[in-house]
Amino acid sequence: MNDGATDGAGAGGRAASDGGGQAASGADGQPAEGLPRGNLAEVPPGGPLCLTGRIQVEVNGEIVADTDDVALCRCGHSGNKPFCDGSHKAVGFDDPGVILGGRLVPGGDEAGEDDPVLIVCATNGPLLVRGPLTVVAADGATAQGTKGALCRCGASSTRPFCDGTHRETGFEAG
Ligand code: FES
Repeated sequence: MNDGATDGAGAGGRAASDGGGQAASGADGQPAEGLPRGNLAEVPPGGPLCLTGRIQVEVNGEIVADTDDVALCRCGHSGNKPFCDGSHKAVGFDDPGVILGGRLVPGGDEAGEDDPVLIVCATNGPLLVRGPLTVVAADGATAQGTKGALCRCGASSTRPFCDGTHRETGFEAG
């Protein structure tokens, strides 16, 4: 199993601290003051999706990260998808870090805030949320739920959520 949190930016595993803005979670894995409890997805401007909490990441049916802190690419240009490798800086990912549209929805199950969230990487598509998650935008706006689709091609008009544009742009996750 590959823990994306411990690979380090050199291996391309994660690069949260190289984001266009620093995520606000505390270094001890606990949310910084003012942030909601539970699993968080912070959205720094021009940077990756910074996930903290109980996070599992699935690619092709395999768990590739089981961690409390991981940065997933949302600019579409990482050479190590689904993880951020810092490429957003080179490509000048232009994103305000706010919720432009879209939302998470409540699931049919009784997910508690301490339950893990599974992030399923759809083939050449978005990051599918399966479990409790709160998206925290750079302006403090939040979106909470247990199901949804987060953009990872960088072209959605409803970032950080998917609007289906990846199909038009021919996004390839590699
Ligand atoms: S968001 Fe960092 S490489 Fe895409």
